[in-house]
Order: sequence, then structure tokens, then C-alpha cells
Amino acid sequence: MRRLRVGVLISGRGSNLQALIGACAAETYPAEIVLVISNRAGAPGLRLAAAAGIRAAVVPHRDRRAFADAAQRLLLEQNVELISLAGFMRILDTDFVEMWRDRMVNIHPSLLPAFRGLHAQRRALEAGVRFAGCTVHFVRPELDTGPIIGQAVVAVHPDDDESALSARILAVEHRLYPLALRLIAEGRVRVVAERVEVMNAEVPLAAVLNPPDCTGEALASFPA
Ligand code: GRF
Repeated sequence: MRRLRVGVLISGRGSNLQALIGACAAETYPAEIVLVISNRAGAPGLRLAAAAGIRAAVVPHRDRRAFADAAQRLLLEQNVELISLAGFMRILDTDFVEMWRDRMVNIHPSLLPAFRGLHAQRRALEAGVRFAGCTVHFVRPELDTGPIIGQAVVAVHPDDDESALSARILAVEHRLYPLALRLIAEGRVRVVAERVEVMNAEVPLAAVLNPPDCTGEALASFPA
């Protein structure tokens, strides 16, 4: 089976990277991570890459252009076909983003287009929303915008603080990102007029995008 060659950009913890590494460990998974780039030398995610035997590089982010040039060289060397941003905390150079148009994805801990940018979970709590979640989307130059590939929803509980809500969202991030990557690698995702069409999406999406506590079924059992 031909596997899509993925390069992952990180800045820190790397739990989404780990979820992708886990997914790629299955022989039937249609993608493989061939390169991890971190802009921070101390990023814990680098150790996860090393433990999985994945080539990893540190590219300091002195300025956008220099980072883009150095990253591009490494990505081309490894014949990377798709870039996955997984907790990458820097704004990317616009030309770089355009060069990777529809070949670069990001995960963000909100139901976009709500709560773009930093502290999405805290701002969701402050806004009093009843549902939160995460989004995987193709990357466009404007921060946290671009065609949406998939979203996962979680309920906000009345006693949630930022860390409780973030943890609940993170758990579904780790399910959504591998699923979205699989759909892309299987060639089932295309962008039409800045919206994503997913071919034959009904089977795996049902579980990930509608966790049990958010379904119509759960609401139906609630007295009106
Ligand atoms: C995640 O919440 C992701 O949605 C956001 O940054 C965080 C990265 O966490 N973009 P990790 O490094 O993957 O653990």
C-alpha cells in the first residue's frame, strides 16, 4: 500500500503528534510520518518522534521567511506530501502557506469559525457556550481559517474550568486528527469553492463527530 508522506510541525507537548504516530503504526493506515520539525529545541514532542524512530529537526523561528526556507528544504528532502500542524505556535510565512495550499492541515481546539487564536477553550467558557470541540482544517494565511475537514463536539459541563474543558477537547482531538488524515490519505477529501467535500464519509465519521453525549438521541430522552 502506498502511504502518504506526512511532515508534522510542532512547538511543544506533542500529544496530537503521538496520536498520529499511534495511528500510523497500524499497517493498514494510509499515511506515514517521515519528518517532524519543531521550532523549539526543548519541545517534549521531539522525544516522542525519536522514540518512534522518526527523523526530527529543530528549526528555530528567528523570522518567518528564514523558518519557511529552512523547513521547506527539509520537507522537500523527505518528499513530504502533506504538512500537519500539531500545536505549532508560530504564524507561517504567507508564501509558504500558499505553496502548500490544500496540502497543509491544522488542528484547533474550538468549533471554528468560533474562537480563533489563543486560549480558545478559556474564551469558550467565558462565552458560556454549551458545546465546544475541535476542528481540523486546511490552512490559509489568515490564522485558524481555511476549509473545514472535520469537527468533533464535546459538551461543556456546568462546573468546567479551563483545564477540564481542554482535557475533554484534547481527547477528541486525538481521535479526530488521525481520522481526518486518513480521509485525506485515502483521497476522499477535496476542496470545492473553499469548502471540503468528503466522499463516502458516513461510516467512521458518525462515531467521532457526534460523541454520545451530544447526539440527537441524548436530547430526545430529555423531557421538553
Ligand atoms: C492542541 O490543543 C491543538 O489543538 C492546538 O495546540 C494544542 C497542541 O497540543 N493547536 P499537543 O502539542 O498536540 O499536545
